[in-house]
Amino acid sequence: MSERSSIELEPGTLLQAAREVARNSYSPYSRFRVGAALKLSNGEIVTGTNVENSSYGLTICAERSAVARAVAQFGPEIRIEAVAVANLNDTASSPCGACRQVLAEFIAPDAPVIFAASNGVRTMPFSELLPLAFEMKPK
Ligand code: THU
Repeated sequence: MSERSSIELEPGTLLQAAREVARNSYSPYSRFRVGAALKLSNGEIVTGTNVENSSYGLTICAERSAVARAVAQFGPEIRIEAVAVANLNDTASSPCGACRQVLAEFIAPDAPVIFAASNGVRTMPFSELLPLAFEMKPK
């Protein structure tokens, strides 16, 4: 029986899902094709890709499109256990600041975030990517 933890096994599966959905990217302006895959606490994997707009500013990133999709599919109680982000441009890219703040709403601080770094695939706990996220607890 393997001793590897589920977190060690996750990068391959989640990254593969992120890479696959990146092929659906709508990115005619940047040609930067991004995919994100979320592992939810209900066991589901939900993916998203970037959808650009001619106004540029209305572009939605892969990570935020995955979060919107996860809530639409499974409701407001979703919890994110792990995130993977991939691009098809063979370049380093961690989730942007806006996406980190949106992920913060649904993710555990110690959830692994897997992304392409300059020296290969990197996994970091979410809290290291966004310490001190803005929070406003609903009353
Ligand atoms: N992009 C993402 O999808 N995720 C990120 O975290 C950063 C950037 C997209 C937005 C845009 O379509 C393209 O990458 C170039 O910025």
